[in-house]
Amino acid sequence: MTAPATGDAPLLEARELARHYVVSRGFMKPKGTVRALDGVSFAVRAGETLAVVGESGCGKSTLARQVTMIERPTSGALRLGGVDVATGDAATLKRMRPLVQMVFQNPYASLNPRKKVGTLLEEPLAINLDLDRAARRERADAMMAKVGLRPEHYHRYPHMFSGGQRQRIAVARALMLNPRLVVADEPVSALDVSIQAQVLNLLMDLQQETGIAYLFISHNLQVVRHIADAVLVMYLGRTVEAGPKQVIFTRPAHPYTRALLASTPVLDPRRRRERIVLQGELPSPLNPPSGCAFHMRCPYAIERCRTEVPLLEPLGGAMVACHRAAELNA
Ligand SMILES: Nc1ncnc2c1ncn2[C@@H]1O[C@H](COP(=O)(O)OP(=O)(O)OP(=O)(O)O)[C@@H](O)[C@H]1O
Ligand code: SF4
Ligand SMILES: [Mg+2]
Repeated sequence: MTAPATGDAPLLEARELARHYVVSRGFMKPKGTVRALDGVSFAVRAGETLAVVGESGCGKSTLARQVTMIERPTSGALRLGGVDVATGDAATLKRMRPLVQMVFQNPYASLNPRKKVGTLLEEPLAINLDLDRAARRERADAMMAKVGLRPEHYHRYPHMFSGGQRQRIAVARALMLNPRLVVADEPVSALDVSIQAQVLNLLMDLQQETGIAYLFISHNLQVVRHIADAVLVMYLGRTVEAGPKQVIFTRPAHPYTRALLASTPVLDPRRRRERIVLQGELPSPLNPPSGCAFHMRCPYAIERCRTEVPLLEPLGGAMVACHRAAELNA
């Protein structure tokens, strides 16, 4: 995402993308606006993985719903393969939707328990393509082999599989239409830690093989450590820091990124870093704080942070939105 603007156009490009929800605040009270996603910009190239990280409620799934064209953004630009999918007409969205597929957190909920694996895999083909039964079966068999499922699994139901195997089925189903981008929303968060690496490795192998791009959503920075090329850290609907993975993990500049990194255990003691404990709750996007949205939880907050919104500016190979980032990282 931070690659120079030369060469091919990015596969996915978002500029100041926003999604606000108008909500009722209660009887006789004026309606409020939840700024779930509030002006986020990024680009993802073919074969690349952009990880979007942040606490629960920061707007990750809202971002996913815009990118997968489930919802229309309130404002901002969203282009997929150069095509405007933010304001595109119904025919354009219908044509573009198969190019982006989704893998959800919970394979128990996302796979219909009454359908066999073979049916689950062939369904997207039956809906979108004009293939006969034999051709659909052939593609399902090939995909099962690709994701490490055995031929006999074709006739089994999702409940007969472990969590990790079920997520393999969900990944296989997402890939049946040869999408260019997969949005994976917390795809390993529901799995045992021992199984997480297997699913991450599968995603990476498939990327090597097909050149697919991932928008990988997680609340856990350590999970994205291996899979990401670039990382975008969100707080209350906005980007606080974004850049290449190496920069984010070796020189995190924003106090919030540092706190997120510190909040997950690092086994190697040489890699232990200054510990900032994340205190307090994420404020409500219905009533966001003034100035820097992180100021009430930030150990470095000064008066200016309470009044002035920090802009996202380049620093040390990344983009950082913090008044004190340069001084704190000198
Ligand atoms: N349809 C909606 N109407 C009103 N508010 C919404 C709607 N969808 C999301 N929100 C609010 O927008 C904010 C962002 O929600 P979102 O689900 O995108 O967060 P998230 O980062 O995916 O969180 P989690 O890690 O818990 O999945 C939350 O405050 C949420 O309550
Ligand atoms: S702008 Fe201020 S409150 Fe916000 S992260 Fe930086 S130092 Fe902390
Ligand atoms: Mg979510």
